[in-house]
Amino acid sequence: MRPVILAYSFTGNNRLLAETLASKLGCPLVDVVPRAKRWPISIAIDLMLRRFPRIRPVDLPGHDHLLVIAPLWNRWIAHPMRAALRALGAEIGPYSFISLSGGVRPGQIEFVDEQLEQLTGQPPRNHWALYVEKLVPEDIRGTPKVSAYKVSPHELERYPEIGEIVGWAQAQP
Ligand SMILES: Cc1cc2nc3c(=O)[nH]c(=O)nc-3n(C[C@H](O)[C@H](O)[C@H](O)COP(=O)(O)O)c2cc1C
Repeated sequence: MRPVILAYSFTGNNRLLAETLASKLGCPLVDVVPRAKRWPISIAIDLMLRRFPRIRPVDLPGHDHLLVIAPLWNRWIAHPMRAALRALGAEIGPYSFISLSGGVRPGQIEFVDEQLEQLTGQPPRNHWALYVEKLVPEDIRGTPKVSAYKVSPHELERYPEIGEIVGWAQAQP
């Protein structure tokens, strides 16, 4: 398998996840880059207007599977990644979705899968959901502190999904 990682991150958690997987898989990492500087308020406006922010063209090297990595905001795939997926559309080919987000909300996984199918015309082959809430002390679970939590490289290694993703990718012919 020749995977390529396509990633977007606002505060760094999904960027760390993407870098870690790229290094373990020895595969290229392509960032989704918004054209305009992003601020916390940009997320609120994206959510309010269901916006597709303008991004730089996504240029993917040759691959046979795309690993798409992005955070979730109010159950929506981060809007710059939504813009990238819409631009790729049916040309995306086989892909999987991976997110390091805060914590599961009602109907979240199904809603994310619906968005993926609407944007690309096909479901993901795999959907791995990693949650910050699994790492943090119990007293801050369910509080806004979860969304502000920065996962360290050491903490990231505690997610069993990392080994699962690498194992799955390496097992593909
Ligand atoms: C405005 C906002 C809304 C969020 N909504 C969700 C959500 O619906 N579900 C979830 O699992 N995480 C949610 N999160 C948490 C982020 O997905 C999480 O902090 C993620 O790790 C940030 O990724 P990044 O550092 O790569 O930008 C939200 C965070 C923010 C700031």
